[in-house]
This record gives sequence, C-alpha cells and structure tokens, in this order.
Amino acid sequence: MAYTKWFNCVICLIATIVTLGDTTIAPTIKLNNGLDIPVIGLGTWKSRGGDVVQAVKDAIDAGYRHIDTAWIYQNEKEVGEGIKAKIDEGVVKREDLFIVTKLYNTFHKPEDVEPAINQSLSALGLDYLDLYLMHTPMDFQKIVNTNLPVDKTGQAIPAGVDFVDTWNAMEKVYRKGLTKSIGVSNFNKRQIEKILEKGSVVPVTNQVECHPYLNQKKLAEFCKSKGITLTAYSPLGSADRPWAKPDDPKLLDDPNLKKIADKYKKSAAQIVLRYLVQSGYIAIPKSVNKGRIQENINIFDFELTPEDMKYVDSFDRNGRIFKFDWGSKHQYYPFNDEY
Ligand SMILES: NC(=O)c1ccc[n+]([C@@H]2O[C@H](COP(=O)([O-])OP(=O)(O)OC[C@H]3O[C@@H](n4cnc5c(N)ncnc54)[C@H](OP(=O)(O)O)[C@@H]3O)[C@@H](O)[C@H]2O)c1
Ligand SMILES: *[C@@H]1O[C@H](CO)[C@@H](O)[C@H](O)[C@H]1NC(C)=O
Repeated sequence: MAYTKWFNCVICLIATIVTLGDTTIAPTIKLNNGLDIPVIGLGTWKSRGGDVVQAVKDAIDAGYRHIDTAWIYQNEKEVGEGIKAKIDEGVVKREDLFIVTKLYNTFHKPEDVEPAINQSLSALGLDYLDLYLMHTPMDFQKIVNTNLPVDKTGQAIPAGVDFVDTWNAMEKVYRKGLTKSIGVSNFNKRQIEKILEKGSVVPVTNQVECHPYLNQKKLAEFCKSKGITLTAYSPLGSADRPWAKPDDPKLLDDPNLKKIADKYKKSAAQIVLRYLVQSGYIAIPKSVNKGRIQENINIFDFELTPEDMKYVDSFDRNGRIFKFDWGSKHQYYPFNDEY
C-alpha cells in the first residue's frame, strides 16, 4: 500500500518533469486595450474533427495559451472541446487562455453581428472571447448552401454593407463584454484609416498573411504607428492550402532558410517563427501534429542576430498566397493598394 503510493508519486513526478520539459509558455505583448496576447498561437484552419480536438489539447499541454479559429473553419465546436478538456483536467483556467474567432463575410449586416458572435461562443462553449476579428472587409450576400456566393463570372456577391457599420456593431458586442477585444483581418492601410476615422474603438490587431516571402514591413509600420499589432497568418507558407500547385515555391524548403536553420541548429519553421516574433509580430502557425506543435513554440531559447534578421528580410518577394480572386471586383477588395 505504502509502496504503491510512493511508486505512483514517483511516476507522477516523472510525468510532471517530462511535461514541463516539453512546455514553453510564449511571452506576451500588450494590446492597445491593456490585454496581453501570447506571441505564438495555434492556427486551426483546415484542422478538422478529432484532429483539431487533439491539436488543441496537445497545444495547451505544450504551453500554447492562444488559439485562433473562425466561424468559417467549421471547427469551433471541436476547438471548444479541446479547451474544455484541458480546463476540466485543471491544466489551465479560462482566464489563462486567449481565444480568437472571426466574424464571417455573410454576417456583416449590423443586426447579424451579435447573433454571429453568440453562435461562435456557443459552439466554443465559452461565455466570452478574448478577440473577435472581422475576417475580411468584404461583405457577402447570404445564400443558402454556400459560404462563397458568386455570380456567373466567379465574383463574390456583396450585400452592400459598409465595413464601418459592421465595425460599429462589433464595438457594441465588445461593450457588452461578449469579447474582450476587437480587431480586423485582411485590411489594408486605407481601410484601417477609415475605421480609425469613423469608428470609436481602435482595432487591437490586423491579422494578415505574413511570412518571409511577404514580410508586410510597410503595413506593420503603419499599424504600429496607430497602436495596432500585426498578427501573421500562414506564417509557415500554408503548404496545405487547398489551391497549392506542385510547382509553387515552398517556403520551408528554401535552401537559404535551411542554411540559417543549420547554423542555429533549429528547423526552418522555427527560424521563420522566430523571425516573425523578433520583428514584433504575433504568429499563429497551424499544425495537427504533436511534435510540430511543440516545435513551433520552442523558439524562445535563441535569438537571430541583427545581420540574420536583415538577411531574412531580403527574402521578401511579394509572395502573396491569399489573393481572394473571387473578391477582386468587390468595392472593399483589400489587395489593389500597395499595402
Ligand atoms: N485571417 C485569415 O484570413 C486567415 C487566413 C489564413 C490562415 N489564417 C490563420 O492562420 C493559421 C496559420 O495559417 P495556415 O494554416 O494557412 O498555414 P501555416 O501555419 O503557414 O502552415 C500550415 C502547414 O504547415 C505544416 N507545418 C506546421 N508546422 C510545421 C513544421 N514545424 N515543419 C513543417 N511543416 C509544418 C502544417 O502541417 P501539419 O498540420 O501536418 O503539421 C500545414 O501543412 C490558420 O490555421 C488560421 O488559423 C487566417
Ligand atoms: C447574445 O448572448 C448574450 C449573453 O448570453 C445575451 O445577453 C444576448 O441577448 C444574446 N443576443 C442575441 C442576439 O442572441
């Protein structure tokens, strides 16, 4: 009896040490509303079913405290299951976590915003979000059986809603406490200026595609001057995006990146994530693989030299992966401006 107890205790201790060994809590940066956001978060686009439940659990065990999802990813329920499991196990408390989801393009009408956030909250099993983002400035008409309503030319059909009106409705759910902060995604400089001019809450972040092939220096500098952080989506080059072609350049296979990785004895993914975080960005790499989930947050035990930072800066090549071709004629298409 005493022996069993002692033995269990040792097993427990070993398990704890092993767990601690694989745990990295990411540093945070302060948002303009005083909230702290962990600079590495788990991306969940394309992560489905049991895979994403497990990924969220593995991520929390690995030390992730920031999870990024969206209504359109159709996995809020599973993300919520993973969160609930780790709260129930006592690994984390709700207030330790930073949970982000996004208002989809079909819910831009002001009267649709509160029902939309409530739907996301109920799928996630939460009573508040840490951050609610407008997924894009482009509004869509609601059409049954499709989330991408297009006309004969393949162009998205707008509902005619000004994104400032959508933003004002987001401000209301923010004031009601349904989310602790609000922000935007896929916005260009002019669109952010319009929000700053006509809105009353400054977005805490602009979540945009950002990686060494599209380093977003100018947009980030503009955002910073307004107290807005930049969150880097598809930080690893989104190799699993559905429209990837075999001949498309693969960021993580870049031989110059591999050279730096060898120098620091880190992986190409770790160099990229370290580069983004050291640039002052927040990054949200997606993985459903436990080893890679751990790898992607294990970037706080080394630093890139200023020379290597400059070298990675030089990889920039206007390498935008997300062009939203279906929106190129939309009045709020964000990517016709330089940034
Ligand atoms: N706001 C927006 O419009 C928007 C758009 C796109 C993305 N996002 C957000 O940003 C997140 C990240 O972007 P993303 O999913 O497009 O792509 P990503 O994170 O750049 O790359 C994901 C791909 O990289 C692989 N991977 C992950 N870690 C790796 C590692 N250490 N070494 C090698 N391969 C690795 C993943 O495979 P495994 O899963 O098998 O590891 C997956 O194939 C999304 O999941 C989503 O949350 C937002
Ligand atoms: C959204 O949820 C909040 C909190 O539960 C509730 O007070 C509010 O009435 C709900 N709004 C709508 C439109 O369902």
